[in-house]
Amino acid sequence: MRTCVSPADLRAVLAPLRREGRRVGFVPTMGNLHAGHYSLLAIARAHADVVVASVFVNPTQFGPNEDFARYPRTPEADATGLAGHGCDVLFLPGVDDLYPFGAQGSAKVSVPEITDVLEGAIRPGHFDGVATVVAKLFNLVQPDVAVFGRKDYQQLLVIRRMVRDLGYPIEIIGAPIVRESNGLAMSSRNQYLDAAQRERAGTIHAALERMRAAVLEGRAIADVETEAATTLGHAGFVVDYATLRNAGDLGEPAADGSPQDLVALIAARMGTTRLIDNLLVNPA
Ligand code: PAF
Repeated sequence: MRTCVSPADLRAVLAPLRREGRRVGFVPTMGNLHAGHYSLLAIARAHADVVVASVFVNPTQFGPNEDFARYPRTPEADATGLAGHGCDVLFLPGVDDLYPFGAQGSAKVSVPEITDVLEGAIRPGHFDGVATVVAKLFNLVQPDVAVFGRKDYQQLLVIRRMVRDLGYPIEIIGAPIVRESNGLAMSSRNQYLDAAQRERAGTIHAALERMRAAVLEGRAIADVETEAATTLGHAGFVVDYATLRNAGDLGEPAADGSPQDLVALIAARMGTTRLIDNLLVNPA
């Protein structure tokens, strides 16, 4: 595995591979890698000849009261893990490489509408930060294909829209969510939970499964959402949302629409840890 710490290093490593016609796959990450990230690498490997992963904790996607400072940073373990999971090139840019005019002074990419709801409404500016850094990384890596986890469902929709809108010639693949044995979606933030909280956090996936089953049984959406929020409350969560939305654009479901077109989404906090998860009603 080659490690590149600047855009110039990265260009020097990738240019000859591109001249040979190699297809480049890309997995952007914020590090603290786990089995979920490694599953993205395996998918990239299946769709490309060269797999590039980036590790960059992007300051612009964290709000002022969020966990940027304490976000887990494990560079040695990440490098070892990536090398052991088929990564060919590790890109480790510095803040100045991606934000030469500072986080405030740099150009921004903003994807409207889809970012107005759910995470976008609760975390103002978050998706501007995500879209901006992903656009910058795409410009530097110039991948043919990029893989994003479906756990961040709204993020995946934002990236797909950005790619289409700005005309990036990049195939975007959404990867299945990797779960712990109790159903908890793998996330770097899970390590903020103590053992008892981690066990109880399996309730999120159980609630999503119940939402899916209930809506397929024909139950009213508002009742299904209320029931999920109540279940989560009993498990000790403060619920930001437990909702059923159109899977394509996260709009409110039409009264006469098909449940097959919906996605169930939950964001809930246990203590100071905020977790998100989702389940497509029709996973196909
Ligand atoms: O999903 C993530 O880890 C981040 O949002 C991403 C896509 C790497 C951008 O910083």
